[in-house]
Amino acid sequence: MPTRAVHVSDLHAGRHEAQGLAEALAALVEEVAPELVIATGDLSHRGRPDQFAHAKELLDGLGVPVLTVPGNHDIPYSFPARFTRPWAEFERAFGSVDPVYRSESLVVCGLDSVRPWRHQGGRLSSTRLALAASTLADAAPGALRVVALHHHLAGAPWRTSRKFPLKNRDAALRTFATAGAELVIGGHIHQSTTVEHHEIEATSGPGSLVLATAPGLGRPRPHRLGEAQGVHVYEWDDERLAIVTRIWDGSRFSPTARRLFPRKA
Ligand SMILES: [Fe+2]
Ligand SMILES: [Fe+2]
Repeated sequence: MPTRAVHVSDLHAGRHEAQGLAEALAALVEEVAPELVIATGDLSHRGRPDQFAHAKELLDGLGVPVLTVPGNHDIPYSFPARFTRPWAEFERAFGSVDPVYRSESLVVCGLDSVRPWRHQGGRLSSTRLALAASTLADAAPGALRVVALHHHLAGAPWRTSRKFPLKNRDAALRTFATAGAELVIGGHIHQSTTVEHHEIEATSGPGSLVLATAPGLGRPRPHRLGEAQGVHVYEWDDERLAIVTRIWDGSRFSPTARRLFPRKA
């Protein structure tokens, strides 16, 4: 039996929630029976306490452990709170902005990539890159080693609005590859992409490193036609990692694509 995790991103709670979406997500989680649900930021639309409470109610209602990291929409839009206490409301609802999950089959290092003085662009500090390396170094043998952050490392094949990948993507990728990461997941662009690092760059890293960007679970700007709603499901055993994209069809999350990647020995 493979182990599974469900990856949601960009809930944007408080803005244009689709009828029946929460119930469909609960049904999917019941069907898939994941060990963990990972939510990679923009849980709220404006960083307001009522929006965090709504997102937390939805995620807690799934009945499985949840790991959350903040996105650029999860800090206050108002001054001076945006700079004096940017993560206070997120932490009150969800705890650490750099959470770690660890079991015999999975280790996830969540990292905060948000910069309050930038609305869109993300970056990982050297402290956080070091945290990822030390967290993955302690993984149980055979455990899937995952890094989770809001800002994407891999963009969608097409994109009309200006959303750049993680500012220090190359340095981050080098750190993650050296640390033995197998899967780096994010969101932010509200479009699904999955790619293996060696498909793009000549790299001396020995093993498979998959970059997966989840579709948005929410759709805060319905006029943007190029933003499908959905989730990723990760399934793995000792040999393979499968990534299943499930897209919201108005009543359920339908399996749309399944991609297979070998795991390193
Ligand atoms: Fe978003
Ligand atoms: Fe975002």
